[in-house]
Amino acid sequence: MMKFLPICLFVLTLPFLNRVPISHPVTPIQEETPAADPFQPVDNMHHFMEYISEPSYKGLKAALATQPKGRKGWSPIKSGALILAETSALVAERVPEGADAEKTKQWKQISLDVYNAGKALYGSVGDYEQAKKHYSVMIDNCNRCHQTFADGKYQLTK
Ligand code: HEC
Repeated sequence: MMKFLPICLFVLTLPFLNRVPISHPVTPIQEETPAADPFQPVDNMHHFMEYISEPSYKGLKAALATQPKGRKGWSPIKSGALILAETSALVAERVPEGADAEKTKQWKQISLDVYNAGKALYGSVGDYEQAKKHYSVMIDNCNRCHQTFADGKYQLTK
């Protein structure tokens, strides 16, 4: 009997062999999740419009009310046009929550239309007639978005 003891002991250890670390099932290597975009909106769309878009719009409206003169006269137009054109790219990315594919497309398209008109306005510095034309197209597009996404409120005058 005693001579079987080592074998018996070995057999008894068999179930535990499975538990040694090397035989652990290999955990699948986790796919690296892409780091979240650190540039999250600082505040909501209402405040974006109120504190970024509105002051630039007011500045443009005042500066274009009469023929601007010289560098000093055109400077606020360059400023407003550049801010409104460049920030359109940010607006485009901030599609309202819950927007379906069609609304998303519309939001981005109108943002692009504001961008294009703002860019053209920036480029028309020195030419009052052209500047007024592009400014007018830009405001039409601001209003188009407000008609579609803000229940027709905030209709801006030129
Ligand atoms: C792609 C859509 C979109 C575009 C383009 C857009 N807006 Fe807006 N805007 C909104 C929305 C949505 C609101 C309403 C936000 C709210 O109250 O929740 C708003 C509100 C406003 C308000 C009201 C803010 C207040 O304090 O009452 C102003 C002013 C404004 N926008 C200016 C502009 C100007 C100027 C442009 C063009 C240069 C522009 N917006 C282009 C979507 C847009």
